[in-house]
Amino acid sequence: MKRRTTSSMPCNFGSSSVLPMVLKAAVELGLLEIIERAGPGALLTPAQIASELPTQNPDCPLVLDRLLRLLSGFMGLPQLPSTSLGMVMEFQWHLYYFPCRTSLTSLVDVGGGDDTILNMIISKYPSIKGFNFDLATILDKSPHHPGIKHCSGDMFASIPKGDAICMKVSGYYMLGMTNMVILGAPETSLAARSLFQFDLFVMNTNITGKERTAREFEGLAKEAGFSQIYLACSAYNFSVVELCKRA
Ligand SMILES: C[S@@+](CC[C@H](N)C(=O)[O-])C[C@H]1O[C@@H](n2cnc3c(N)ncnc32)[C@H](O)[C@@H]1O
Repeated sequence: MKRRTTSSMPCNFGSSSVLPMVLKAAVELGLLEIIERAGPGALLTPAQIASELPTQNPDCPLVLDRLLRLLSGFMGLPQLPSTSLGMVMEFQWHLYYFPCRTSLTSLVDVGGGDDTILNMIISKYPSIKGFNFDLATILDKSPHHPGIKHCSGDMFASIPKGDAICMKVSGYYMLGMTNMVILGAPETSLAARSLFQFDLFVMNTNITGKERTAREFEGLAKEAGFSQIYLACSAYNFSVVELCKRA
């Protein structure tokens, strides 16, 4: 258990810029003063807090809800353990071994960034044609690797065709957000804090991105026409989810 906690820490570092940003926003918006003014034990909804802010943004309660969830998750932070950054690689290996269970001839990495993951896969399975799809500004700076073609574009407009599509992290940007998050009892576990932090990290990049429950994700996948959804594996707070169009 201690090893698992320690190993989860590097996963949090990637989005660790979120907490100071949220604290700054909370101070500048006077959120804590609004909560304090309501008095001890008051139960405020995000909409009530939003009504005290000088904004007409209809998404404000939703954003506040997620900011406050993160802040409540970090209250009373225990001393964090020191850790080994190498452990974060464990998750990548699950992706690495995915194609050996399939008969892929082409694989598109949507939001593939600098090719790191696709290159790991294609070097092991050189018969697969790799397509690294990302924004032109990113691909201009990304290295070229054998067996991988760079394709620039906007994933919200269209994506290249392939036998399979891999979306590591970038899937968050593509999936729209419709549900209100309800602020419940503070969840302060390392896993919860990591999740809340990543939720806001993604929201900061694209307001429609968010962390989802397995059920929400499944509903979304079915709506998009995927008939089979497998949780292939999980490592710490991350999971490899396979979506298939047919049996
Ligand atoms: C968080 S990074 C993930 C990179 C890589 N998949 C990984 O896991 O290391 C998200 C990637 O999505 C790309 N991206 C964001 N918006 C995009 C869009 N509209 N179309 C294509 N790629 C996009 C970014 O440029 C970035 O490389």
